Amino acid sequence: MKKVLIIHGPNLNLLGTREPEIYGNRALTDIDKALVERGRTLGLEVETFQSNHEGDIVDKIQAATKDCHGLIINPAAYTHTSIAIRDALLVLDIPAIEVHLSNIYKRESFRQQSKISDVVTGKIIGLGHHGYRLALEAINRLITLP
Ligand code: DQA
Repeated sequence: MKKVLIIHGPNLNLLGTREPEIYGNRALTDIDKALVERGRTLGLEVETFQSNHEGDIVDKIQAATKDCHGLIINPAAYTHTSIAIRDALLVLDIPAIEVHLSNIYKRESFRQQSKISDVVTGKIIGLGHHGYRLALEAINRLITLP
């Protein structure tokens, strides 16, 4: 069974209570549960991972090269700052999709820059938690269809 890793960056563990007018009311545990379930219907194993620590996210991306077929990543605030996460993605040899719940281009200027957009396969933004499901369906296409 092909495996997809979903990485959530800092403060996304607070989804549901953190600025719900921007990020929605759904808790991360509920989002992850639905993604694992959607993965099952697609015939994919889905692993989810959240960390508030940049190095842990780098370690996880490095490990994904060994046993994952696709990656979905919302690096949260590290999107705008982390060359370490960018460099880890550059080494990754599987499709990777960047997801943001909010439309970062409609927000503060510092959020309008992503250090990873030009090194990922694709990007889905501004669609709330639906973006993760769409990314999973896109990854499925990329890794299972010829
Ligand atoms: C975010 C956007 C980032 O600017 C912010 O720091 C986040 C979440 C999003 O999903 O919209 O934590 O990545």
